[in-house]
Amino acid sequence: MTKLNLAIVGCGDIAGFTALVSKLVPQVNLSACCDVNKERAETFAKKNRIPKVYTDYNELLETSQADAVYLAVPHYLHYEMVLAAVKASKPIFVEKPLTRTLDEAKKLIQAIGDAKVGVNYQYRYDSGCYALARAIQSGALGNIHSMRINIPWHREQSYFEGAAWHKTIAHAGGGTLITQGSHFLDVALWALDEDPVSAMGYVKTPRFEVEVDTLAHGIVETRRGTLISVVSSMVTANEQTVTIEAYGEHGTAIYADRPFPHVKFIGANIKKERPPEWGVHALQRSLAGFTNWVLNDKPFLIPAVSTLPVLAAVDGMYRSSVTGSRLQVNLQP
Ligand SMILES: NC(=O)c1ccc[n+]([C@@H]2O[C@H](COP(=O)([O-])OP(=O)(O)OC[C@H]3O[C@@H](n4cnc5c(N)ncnc54)[C@H](O)[C@@H]3O)[C@@H](O)[C@H]2O)c1
Repeated sequence: MTKLNLAIVGCGDIAGFTALVSKLVPQVNLSACCDVNKERAETFAKKNRIPKVYTDYNELLETSQADAVYLAVPHYLHYEMVLAAVKASKPIFVEKPLTRTLDEAKKLIQAIGDAKVGVNYQYRYDSGCYALARAIQSGALGNIHSMRINIPWHREQSYFEGAAWHKTIAHAGGGTLITQGSHFLDVALWALDEDPVSAMGYVKTPRFEVEVDTLAHGIVETRRGTLISVVSSMVTANEQTVTIEAYGEHGTAIYADRPFPHVKFIGANIKKERPPEWGVHALQRSLAGFTNWVLNDKPFLIPAVSTLPVLAAVDGMYRSSVTGSRLQVNLQP
């Protein structure tokens, strides 16, 4: 197989970007798309020159020539749709988070065995995040005592009206913490190569008439004792720079996503490593990484099992926000 025939399932917001960057990944051929909204699927197919259109996912799995599926559907559908694709022996590139809840993720990991299921936490392929992670993993910064993550983003009411599933815990699993914050918390836990052991969270909805959190603060402690504090917001008046700061015993690393993704090292002389795929954008590199995993067995940075720690941390923070106390985090089935 020299090209990957990929079916896009869910022709909404992120699928549009993925279809766009897929044009820059020569091994990817968009062979089919699927959406329960027929008009949306047809418009998407036309715009992206996709030859086959489906409105029924099971029919796509049974009859299409796709080698793999990219799932860009609401969170509450991830569990069943990943399972169905595994049963159909299709490798899966599922949008983050792996599932809506930690319990679903634990069950899914047991069920999928060694099937190729990757999760699109694409910031692992961001040039700055990758360099930060490799610096931490190399030990050059020494033990990381403390990390601080800030995601001061902005959303309009149209974000919830255009995709109403974002509004409820039953459909989304949560709000800004699981949807946006989990991207960068995932980078931190992956960089540390650590599991969370306890979490505290305080989430609120200071803006928007929705059930889910639109502002979240929290602290996660890892097995080796790093404290990670995270602030995730979609209520910032003007969207600001995302930062990840890592404070180690020998040096400091500061990541910022603006004006372009970059990392600065202070107190330690570190060569910045580049992500293992070429590309102009992290989403492109992540898709290229998944494609190379399926076609050439090249290790992919985001296999499903490696995203359990972030879901466990998020779950702990949500539970703690209800009880008001620090809670243990358990990754075991
Ligand atoms: N990686 C990123 O940076 C990033 C950015 C945005 C969203 N996402 C993730 O992508 C996923 C989708 O988010 P979105 O913002 O694109 O949502 P969206 O609501 O814009 O799109 C979802 C699409 O799925 C379709 N759909 C629903 N049920 C379906 C079914 N059974 N079969 C086929 N299609 C179905 C909907 O009609 C809709 O078109 C979520 O997991 C989200 O967290 C990731």
